[in-house]
Amino acid sequence: MTQTGATQAPTTGAAVIDGKAFSDRLVTRVADAASALAARIGRAPALAVVLVGDNPASAVYVRNKIERTTAAGMRSIERRLDATTGQDELLAIIDELNADDGVDGILVQLPLPPQIDEAAVINAISPDKDVDGFHVVNAGRLATGQDALVPCTPYGCLMLLQDHLGDLSGLNAVVVGRSNIVGKPMAQLLVQQSCTVTIAHSRTRDLQAVCAAADILVAAVGRPEMITGDFIKPGATVIDVGINRVPAPERGEGKFRLTGDVDFASAAAVAGAITPVPGGVGPMTIACLLRNTLVAAARRFDAELADL
Ligand code: GUN
Repeated sequence: MTQTGATQAPTTGAAVIDGKAFSDRLVTRVADAASALAARIGRAPALAVVLVGDNPASAVYVRNKIERTTAAGMRSIERRLDATTGQDELLAIIDELNADDGVDGILVQLPLPPQIDEAAVINAISPDKDVDGFHVVNAGRLATGQDALVPCTPYGCLMLLQDHLGDLSGLNAVVVGRSNIVGKPMAQLLVQQSCTVTIAHSRTRDLQAVCAAADILVAAVGRPEMITGDFIKPGATVIDVGINRVPAPERGEGKFRLTGDVDFASAAAVAGAITPVPGGVGPMTIACLLRNTLVAAARRFDAELADL
């Protein structure tokens, strides 16, 4: 068992998996490889980020993505569109970015305003530039074991699991949540690693008993602290994908704190290892986006990449 980047939780037996430290190392490797690729193709790998409207959470995520892209030595291209943008206008911009040889990756920040059909927009992105891995072609490639651009959050979770546990084969994995962005691709990645996988969701009967059979438990439900210690098999590895903003009156009036889908204190008392929120899965998502941008650029230029 490898445990790089894991420290012991002060009041529990569970190792705390340090996603921040792991993601920093990954970004360093990506930045080195991006610089080598730039020397070969005559320009930095480039990521275009499209933001429609003024959703404050999306604005924060996009600003972060742009800053991290440039910090890793890649080019960031921004397209900010009004909340009233129509679907045809957005599709025309995607066509333009698809045709632009100077663009390697395209990301349209979700959610989109209600007048726009999200699936139509995602599937208009060239699958080879789809660094979110949301296009139906990439979902199909992942499901059939072909070279895909893989959604960033589940790929980041897999990297943390492999770093902590090594070989995952034969382990019982339960993924709570069935979204196209996290739950379903996470389950595909775990099947590929020869885990026995269950996808649980809001209609699952006796969720607690299902979770309690998991050697690996991935929580991606979007409900703050819903998974408590009594859902967890002693010694299990718990990956908390949730990032929920909840009121924190103890910090003062009107204050908030970030918390996961797992109740950290009770879970850490039972688990063998657990990701914290913040500082667990969150930083892995952007690191994997940068990795996907590099992979997309290398594939477009038929360049070899070292393992990242
Ligand atoms: N909105 C929330 N998470 C994501 C993500 O991973 N990619 C995109 N494009 N939008 C998001």
